[in-house]
Amino acid sequence: MKYSFGTISITEKAKQLVIDAIDSGRLSSGNKVREFEQKFAALVGTKAAVALSTGTDADALALAVLYDFGAERGDEIIVPALSFVATGNAVLQAGFTPVFVDINRKTLNIDPDKIEAVITEKTRGIMPVHLMGKPADMDPIMDIAKRHNLCVVEDAAEAHGGKYKGKKIGTIGDMAAYSLYVAHIISTVEGGIVTTDRNDYADVLRSLRSHGRFCKCEQCVFNSGAVTCDKRIVDGVDKRFFFERIGFSAKMNEMEAAIGLGNIELYDDILGKRRHNLLYLMGHFKEFEKYLFTFTEESHEQIGPHAFPLTVCDGASFTRDELADYLKKNNIDFRHMFLSMPTQCPGFAYLGHKLGEFPESEYVADHGLHIGVHQELTREHLDYFLGVVRDFLKDK
Ligand SMILES: Cc1ncc(COP(=O)(O)O)c(C=O)c1O
Repeated sequence: MKYSFGTISITEKAKQLVIDAIDSGRLSSGNKVREFEQKFAALVGTKAAVALSTGTDADALALAVLYDFGAERGDEIIVPALSFVATGNAVLQAGFTPVFVDINRKTLNIDPDKIEAVITEKTRGIMPVHLMGKPADMDPIMDIAKRHNLCVVEDAAEAHGGKYKGKKIGTIGDMAAYSLYVAHIISTVEGGIVTTDRNDYADVLRSLRSHGRFCKCEQCVFNSGAVTCDKRIVDGVDKRFFFERIGFSAKMNEMEAAIGLGNIELYDDILGKRRHNLLYLMGHFKEFEKYLFTFTEESHEQIGPHAFPLTVCDGASFTRDELADYLKKNNIDFRHMFLSMPTQCPGFAYLGHKLGEFPESEYVADHGLHIGVHQELTREHLDYFLGVVRDFLKDK
């Protein structure tokens, strides 16, 4: 049997919409992107959603919004030390400095108790990550943000379908950034989207994705960049190439939105199947708790079923890599856990952190794996995986 890591569901409707987009001659951002944004905002329950090229752009542009609200280049954004590296890259791409905080190894998320110690006069925001779909502990994070007047951007790349204390992930912070890459529940193949209740933030996001253009009227938003309305000529001067802020080139195109529009219709179905798979594995993993741990779902939350993480317990008689080799030999596709960005990703070495500074992140990075819970996995696949783990552990 083969246990695969991920899949993407492309519906007949999506295929037809892609053909429609091609036939319409309008391939760059247009009506389908607008429709996808409206549907995504309705699904999450926010006033606005702004579609972008990637989830990394979603993180970066959400942070870059802060320049319109008093932030300066080089200011600091607090992020967890352990995440997919895009989180740290996006902070730098937006022109800020990432300030890392260790995680809690059981939740894989930023440890709120360690945030206040790193706040300085230059701190402008906190970007908690809901890693593997497990909601970060948002109450204390929002409380700290409020007391220090910081903006909170949720990195919800992996958290489609998550809930925290009755609220949907993506509606708690000031903005939330999602990835729509193939590995995620709603996908446009490549893509990202930012949700927010703040229309002023959404306006800046629409400008930022299109090089920082200045006009926010409907016609120019539709034309994604080119200023075509009567504001273009001011006192006889053509302002086509006038840009209001430093921007990005990060628009979603019509074919990507077409895939997303098909995909969004399957949301409940995909979410239900993936939740079932995740809960099944979490429930059965108790059997292995002497050797391996995964996260638990608390009564106040619903984990967005992105993937199933597992970490080798301290003092186990085997290594993560021995387990990984065994899974591989048995056709089970997996990924290592991500690394501690400041101390295990060479790109961040210039910040001067030393191995050992983020022990929880480094532990999970060295001892963790994750496997898929996607919608095409059946009960047989899940039982097969559990059987392989059981077999591996039998002489340990
Ligand atoms: C936590 C996190 N943030 C950001 C991203 C970036 O998303 P993308 O690959 O769409 O750029 C990812 C990717 O999956 C992610 O896992």
